[in-house]
Amino acid sequence: MSNNHPVSVVAIDGPSASGKSTVSKRVAQELKFTYVDSGSLYRGMTWKALRDGVEIGRPDQVIELMNRMKLEFYTENRVVLFTMDGEDPGQQIRSEPVRENVADIAAIPEVRVFMVDRLREMVRFGDIVMEGRDIGTVVFPESPFKYYLDADPEERARRRSLELKSMEGVDDVGKVLDSLARRDRKDSTRKTAPLQIALGARVINSTSMTIEEVVALITAEVRAALGQ
Ligand code: CDP
Repeated sequence: MSNNHPVSVVAIDGPSASGKSTVSKRVAQELKFTYVDSGSLYRGMTWKALRDGVEIGRPDQVIELMNRMKLEFYTENRVVLFTMDGEDPGQQIRSEPVRENVADIAAIPEVRVFMVDRLREMVRFGDIVMEGRDIGTVVFPESPFKYYLDADPEERARRRSLELKSMEGVDDVGKVLDSLARRDRKDSTRKTAPLQIALGARVINSTSMTIEEVVALITAEVRAALGQ
């Protein structure tokens, strides 16, 4: 942790396939901040529920599992990772069953309260870049560095299908894009902490911008504000 300034948090929110993950990781690397993917926690919780045979449609069971689970965080190359009951879910959090159920798990208010508390504790790792859906609105609303990344729906669909085509085991891109649209709808309309533009957030529409341009814009702003 840095000694000469308070911990800085760069909050990056936005819908799926807005370029958020790539941009957030690169911004963290450039600034030498620790990277936190908040979605990985909601995905992890979904993986854990499926793995332990808990019914996704039974929030009471999910909450019970969550409360007795041992959740531990650590960093590797300035990236925050975690274990659940001693197990590292790894890439399993990107699997189809997780993808299909995560928005329902993330809509459970108790799950959100629990994860928001954990996410706020991440400042113990020092300066961080955190990406998600509610980082600027709920988790760190007081941060001066809030960004909302967006891109036109067609561009997001195109980016996601490129990404999926390069992944193994995905044979029906159309189906995955439909499920993505469903998830975006759930994320934007849920009662607790829906995806919204945070007050004071800078909106970046990256439809016709390269990743490098978006990264440069954010890092320049943060550096200028920190007097670097
Ligand atoms: O990879 P992609 O951007 O599609 O998703 P993600 O960032 O891994 O997040 C997966 C899901 O977790 C989202 O669709 C939300 O339902 C949920 N999530 C959330 O509710 N709040 C966050 N801060 C991050 C993710």
